[in-house]
Amino acid sequence: MNKQEIIDILSDNTNNDWLFSEADKIRHENVGDEVHLRGLIEFSNICKRQCKYCGLRSANKQVQRYRIFKDEIINSVQKAVKLGYKTIVLQSGEDDFYDTDKIVEIIREIKFFDVALTLSIGEKTYDEYKAFKDAGADRYLLRIETTDKNLYKNLHPGVNIENRFRCLYDLKSLGYETGTGCLVGLPNQTIESLADDILFFKELDADMVGIGPFIAHSQTPLKDAKNGDFWLALKVMALTRINIPNINIPATTAMETLNPNGRIIALKSGANVVMPNVTSIEYRAKYEIYPNKICLNEQPEQCRNCIEAKIKSIGRTISNKKGVREK
Ligand code: 5AD
Ligand code: FES
Repeated sequence: MNKQEIIDILSDNTNNDWLFSEADKIRHENVGDEVHLRGLIEFSNICKRQCKYCGLRSANKQVQRYRIFKDEIINSVQKAVKLGYKTIVLQSGEDDFYDTDKIVEIIREIKFFDVALTLSIGEKTYDEYKAFKDAGADRYLLRIETTDKNLYKNLHPGVNIENRFRCLYDLKSLGYETGTGCLVGLPNQTIESLADDILFFKELDADMVGIGPFIAHSQTPLKDAKNGDFWLALKVMALTRINIPNINIPATTAMETLNPNGRIIALKSGANVVMPNVTSIEYRAKYEIYPNKICLNEQPEQCRNCIEAKIKSIGRTISNKKGVREK
């Protein structure tokens, strides 16, 4: 689709059912009915950045900060592997405590297990990304958040969008399966810019795209902003599936935060991945990127069983493979 076609669909809600079923059909034809589960470990909520929408921004002094060290991370990985996860995602704030050597050591230990490893630890230099790749990291998640240059600038004090683009192209060139994505419903975000976001995912040749609604956090400068709209986020996701048919698309946790059946609705509208949390529950509530995150009191095994039951209830199956993007 060209930009105008995407804009037209995003601005008109009369054909939403058609859009969601079309995305579902394209998902079925291109990536099949298997759902890939990625076990997410949120290993540090310490962040040096100031993203205005994010509860973990360093200016938020109300957060109880934590770091999970290597041995405990490996324990969680071991548990996740026992629960059948074939991909581990390590996510954190931008926390310089974990320097290149520490991350490399963690990667090496995780790669003793037969799992794909995804990192989601922010903007780094080419050399750092290369060191992680050489150590065995397979994938990297770094949402562009928005491709609107002015909006990006207003929301991210002290950093620039060019570096974020640079990171994403470095990751692609290093051979990572590269995930990106955007927030939907940010204050002052336009439909045009959402269309640009989708076109950017295609231009980058992103291997995975995660899309979630913005959710206002009371301890951030955007505390009085309106939440993003679940259905608009779902439309951006469905359009992403239609425009890049063979990628991996998660049903995001933020969608389920705004709609109690959000992940299942997303799985029926183009998504083929779910990322259940495998972090120990003692840390979960502290990783409050946005409020009312789901599963704060559920143990990793409970989430595993819960999501399996939900996926089976819609006639889909859980993959026992690593879920690499197949071109
Ligand atoms: N609402 C929804 N999603 C958010 N993220 C950060 N803050 C919020 C918020 N307030 C998302 C960003 C980031 C991901 C880890 O969480 O898109 O990339
Ligand atoms: Fe955690 Fe359902 S996925 S309880």
